Amino acid sequence: MQLSSKDAKKMLEETIGQTPHDGWIYHSICVGDSAATIASSLNLDKEKARTLGYIHDIGKKINFKYHVIEGYNLLKKLGYDEEYCNICLTHSYLNNDVKCTAGGIPEDIPFRTNFIINHEYTIYEKIINLCDLMCTNKVCTLEQRLIDVMLRRGVHSNTVYHIKEAYKLKEYFDNLLGHNIYDLFPEIKENI
Ligand SMILES: [Fe+2]
Repeated sequence: MQLSSKDAKKMLEETIGQTPHDGWIYHSICVGDSAATIASSLNLDKEKARTLGYIHDIGKKINFKYHVIEGYNLLKKLGYDEEYCNICLTHSYLNNDVKCTAGGIPEDIPFRTNFIINHEYTIYEKIINLCDLMCTNKVCTLEQRLIDVMLRRGVHSNTVYHIKEAYKLKEYFDNLLGHNIYDLFPEIKENI
């Protein structure tokens, strides 16, 4: 079953006040709207990009620490197509590697580790990877977001590896677009 961006937003809004804090909900809206802007500039399906951004962290509705797996299981149980379920798994990991993430090396959950190694990331998944690293509750530079994460979650043995891959991902989109991706978001200047 497909999921519209309208229903995805409803799913998010229903959760306001139901979890330890609402920050992730406004972050998810920022990720979805930024993803739609990028998709539109690349002549992709902007509503699909928006939906995937809105739901990427939906597992936080159930459990913050295990939101990746919880989100995947929740959307599966609700009967949504693989691409919607998969975004919950892929959004935090770059370079097909669960170790390439913010906040330290995660515990080994074999299903997740194997999924990430074997999965061929779609362009939409790469857009969400990047937008997750460009959005607090508003769109900002990679540097701002990475520092925001480091201040909250610390610096770990994989932090430099993750930052390097994050820069590669931005460069990938700069090249696809033929200009700096920040040009799509003039509001970044006001958000600094
Ligand atoms: Fe996120």
